[in-house]
Amino acid sequence: MYRIGQEEIDAVARVIRSQKLFKVNDGTLQETANFEKELRERIKTDRAVLMTSGTAALASALIGMGIGPGDEVLVPAYTYIATAMAVIMVGAMPVVTEVDETLSMDPEDIEKKLTPKTKAVIPVHMGGYPCDMDRIMAAAKKHNLFVLEDACQAMGTTYKGKAVGTIGDAGAFSFNAFKILSAGEGGAMVTNNQDIFEKSLIYHDSCAVAYFGNQMENFKTVPFCGSEFRTNEITAAILREQLKRLDGILGDLRKNKKELEKRLAPHIDFAPCNDPEGEGAYTVSLQFETKEKALAFQEAFDGYSVIPAYMGKHVFNDWKAIIEKRGAVHPLMDPFRFEANRGFGFPEDTCTKSLELMAKCVRIDVNPDWTQEDISQFAEKVIAALS
Ligand SMILES: Cc1ncc(COP(=O)(O)O)c(C=O)c1O
Repeated sequence: MYRIGQEEIDAVARVIRSQKLFKVNDGTLQETANFEKELRERIKTDRAVLMTSGTAALASALIGMGIGPGDEVLVPAYTYIATAMAVIMVGAMPVVTEVDETLSMDPEDIEKKLTPKTKAVIPVHMGGYPCDMDRIMAAAKKHNLFVLEDACQAMGTTYKGKAVGTIGDAGAFSFNAFKILSAGEGGAMVTNNQDIFEKSLIYHDSCAVAYFGNQMENFKTVPFCGSEFRTNEITAAILREQLKRLDGILGDLRKNKKELEKRLAPHIDFAPCNDPEGEGAYTVSLQFETKEKALAFQEAFDGYSVIPAYMGKHVFNDWKAIIEKRGAVHPLMDPFRFEANRGFGFPEDTCTKSLELMAKCVRIDVNPDWTQEDISQFAEKVIAALS
């Protein structure tokens, strides 16, 4: 869905000509620092750290929150496996919550899944559809939980006027090849919390943060062992150009989605959305009364569509390594075998309501580059498959 072209080619050339590929340099090239600044300004957040992936950003944020063995973190039944994997990366256990009709985390299920071990909740803005952040934030506040927003699929999405990723204690974005902005791979952790920022920054590059430049100036946190999720000036330079394209892509998606929905509305219902004005508008969600009708539509439709229930690693029941509790190669490194996590498991009847809801929805892609003619032809194909 991303757009890429001459501007990105020039940006990469600029970095290569400079011979400065490392993000800490003599100051003549500051692609990473500038991208982080531009991202902060665009989504209005205090801190942003560019990293290698969305998964790295999620794990770094959890480390920043002090989450680890003995802790449970709530994740929705419908999200890419990486959300739950990041929880296991830090030694904690992912507890799967139901989604509601919007196919995002059901705020009502938060209280039902709480245990004394619950420390955080990860609402995921899947496909650019914002979660019900008011109710999620209220539940988190009541039970003293951290909120980490997985906004990996939702750059540019807003909820009640605020950029998703900036509403909770921290947020994570992905710039992999399937996202609205991309450098092939990449991610960003954002937060307004200085403590989360310090720990997350150190963890994402613990071998180098203390030794290069003045990255730890005025830090309260002392260095500790972590990982290496640092990225480079080429990625940052590409993403600076990508960020400039965001409003154009979103504007076109929203315009085309409105137009398509107008044509489809007499023929089919749409799934509800927590903020239709702010959503990313990458897909139209067709709402069927039964899963059989959803499948029949998909079969008849001459185009690409997905039924969330059957999206493989985007649904909890297909997170094989997790559900089968294989947390690491070495048994002593496997969080599922840690004493602090003893007794943890996934009940047989985990989130059956979510599976039903996900099976009754079909999502069809919206293209930002459609002409009016393209929209008409596409709408006709959808209507034909509905009848
Ligand atoms: C909802 C969600 N969370 C996390 C991730 C992980 O992002 P990355 O592939 O950049 O690690 C993805 C990526 O597809 C995602 O869709």
